[in-house]
Amino acid sequence: MDEIIWATPLYEFLRQCSLTSLDRTVLDCGAGSHGDRPPPLLLFYQQGYATYGIEINDEPLLHAKKFCADNGIPLNIFRGDMRRIPFADRTFSFVYSYNAIFFMTKTDVAVAMHEIKRVLRPKGLCFVNFLSVDDPDRRPFRKDNSASRLLGSRRFSRFRDGEADIYFRGFDILLKEKRIIEKLYEGRRLKQAYIDYIARRRR
Ligand SMILES: C[S@@+](CC[C@H](N)C(=O)[O-])C[C@H]1O[C@@H](n2cnc3c(N)ncnc32)[C@H](O)[C@@H]1O
Repeated sequence: MDEIIWATPLYEFLRQCSLTSLDRTVLDCGAGSHGDRPPPLLLFYQQGYATYGIEINDEPLLHAKKFCADNGIPLNIFRGDMRRIPFADRTFSFVYSYNAIFFMTKTDVAVAMHEIKRVLRPKGLCFVNFLSVDDPDRRPFRKDNSASRLLGSRRFSRFRDGEADIYFRGFDILLKEKRIIEKLYEGRRLKQAYIDYIARRRR
């Protein structure tokens, strides 16, 4: 399996994880896959990590499971909600949530961040990216959108530059990076803005 994943910020997270001497166990929160893209956990699997993922929504969950079955790759992705991560305290050396947490309301983002910290081991690393207020997408979700249905949110939660720092109490922030992307996507000019964090749990 020589597929290469597209989620470029996760390569830096993988690099930082691989510099530690911690057990190679990683959890992805929001681990489903969309279209013909492989689940991002593949990147960690290819490097020998024991991978686990939770996904709340049927369709991306089925896509991810199909990818695993078709390719004989046990990424261990199953139904779960990052607001109640179904693992014991301090289970994982590494936890990430890529392009997923901001589908929830800010109240739920705070709950999920508490959960991510809970399942992370002392000295473990997490990666989370937040949508920035500089991202122009303020459209409300349609009523039949899975985020409205499953998460009760009306639109993406967007964060000011320092706003998400509060979730990293008890962590050392190793990287905080604001990415503003302008690209052509399916013939349209698209602007996106994210704030990425890599942080290490103190104890
Ligand atoms: C834009 S997709 C990104 C999926 C994947 N991380 C990727 O980069 O390809 C966001 C995913 O997060 C999932 N998600 C959102 N909130 C969740 C929650 N509370 N628990 C588990 N999954 C969640 C959504 O269902 C969706 O599949």
